[in-house]
Amino acid sequence: MAKFRTLDDLGDVNGKVALVRVDLNLPMQDGAVTDDTRVRASAPTILDLCAKGAKVLLLAHFGRPKGERVSTQSLSMVVDAVQSVIGKEVMFVPEIAGPVVAQSVGILRPGDVAILENTRFWKGEEKNDPELARAIAENGDFYVNDAFSAAHRAHATTEGLAHVLPAYAGRSMQAELEALEKALGNPQRPVAAVVGGAKVSSKLDVLKHLVTQVDHLIIGGGMANTFLAASDVDVGKSLCEHDLKPTAVEILETADKSGCTVHLPYDVVVAKEFAANPASLRTCAVHEVAADEMILDVGPQAVEALADVLKTCRTLVWNGPLGAFETEPFDHATVSLAKVAAALTAEGSLVSVAGGGDTVAALNHAGAADDFSYISTAGGAFLEWMEGKELPGVAALHKD
Ligand code: 3PG
Repeated sequence: MAKFRTLDDLGDVNGKVALVRVDLNLPMQDGAVTDDTRVRASAPTILDLCAKGAKVLLLAHFGRPKGERVSTQSLSMVVDAVQSVIGKEVMFVPEIAGPVVAQSVGILRPGDVAILENTRFWKGEEKNDPELARAIAENGDFYVNDAFSAAHRAHATTEGLAHVLPAYAGRSMQAELEALEKALGNPQRPVAAVVGGAKVSSKLDVLKHLVTQVDHLIIGGGMANTFLAASDVDVGKSLCEHDLKPTAVEILETADKSGCTVHLPYDVVVAKEFAANPASLRTCAVHEVAADEMILDVGPQAVEALADVLKTCRTLVWNGPLGAFETEPFDHATVSLAKVAAALTAEGSLVSVAGGGDTVAALNHAGAADDFSYISTAGGAFLEWMEGKELPGVAALHKD
């Protein structure tokens, strides 16, 4: 990574304040972190800076609070998870700039770590407001970006800070860039992409490009419902963005022209209510979904067919679960297909690259993560990287 300054380029930082952008947008259930992969990804950077004697201030966002303080989205909720991963006590600071942060810096000793509040509680974050970046920078000596997964956002703490402080790529950022370049720079064909999950609207535009790049596009999760609805399937009360149906049709047309086969489920697991093992659970063909039912997972026959598709492929890119995998038994499709991908990778016939917070959690849940060729901690950034876009957070780290 000669294009970036890394932690190896730091001089003596003993007693200096490092403003470190990490990604703590972690999967949570009932206020507890359900997967700490992203924390583990940034642990080497945090511990390296601690060992160098820096005072480490972690900057991160959680959710999309849109410039308001939302108590259920406070980063105080992730303090325990960070402490247990790095094995050090972590201070929580309920601000990101100003005298409260300055006071905390005064209390911290070299090698100590603090987490600042959710950066998206401040409107200037998403606006990439230079005033906010300068205010944050006042309490720091240098900036480290270790959040590849947030690097597709040109926000004050993902991009702006790199212009007001000496900027460095953290260990995880460096590793992500090196691995994705190697895995996706020139993939072996056929290439399959699995795209699923709940962030439907943010991924449809990305899919438009993806269908021109891959040979097989496997669509699951809520996204599949929008595509099914666009193909005149009645999806009942399933999660579905009906207003995006024309976009879905466009994507299917582009896929057709580009020689990309789009795989939508033809059998599905449905229920009348979203709960674990509901009484109304049943499997049916997509055309048999009742008006009061919702699709919660891809059905077993479709999964078998998808497994056969993967057997013909050399490269797999996976982003997002196929069903509502956190709630049993709607994890079946994701777990089954992930196991097939892991086995093909272990045999050496498939290069498998996966990304996305939920994806990582799902692959861990399936016990498949260790056998994948590479697991990125990124979601949206991962797919934008697939498009060949330059991510603003990465571009800002370029050496002058
Ligand atoms: C992610 O979870 O993909 C990153 O943290 C970015 O989150 P965002 O999509 O809310 O910007």
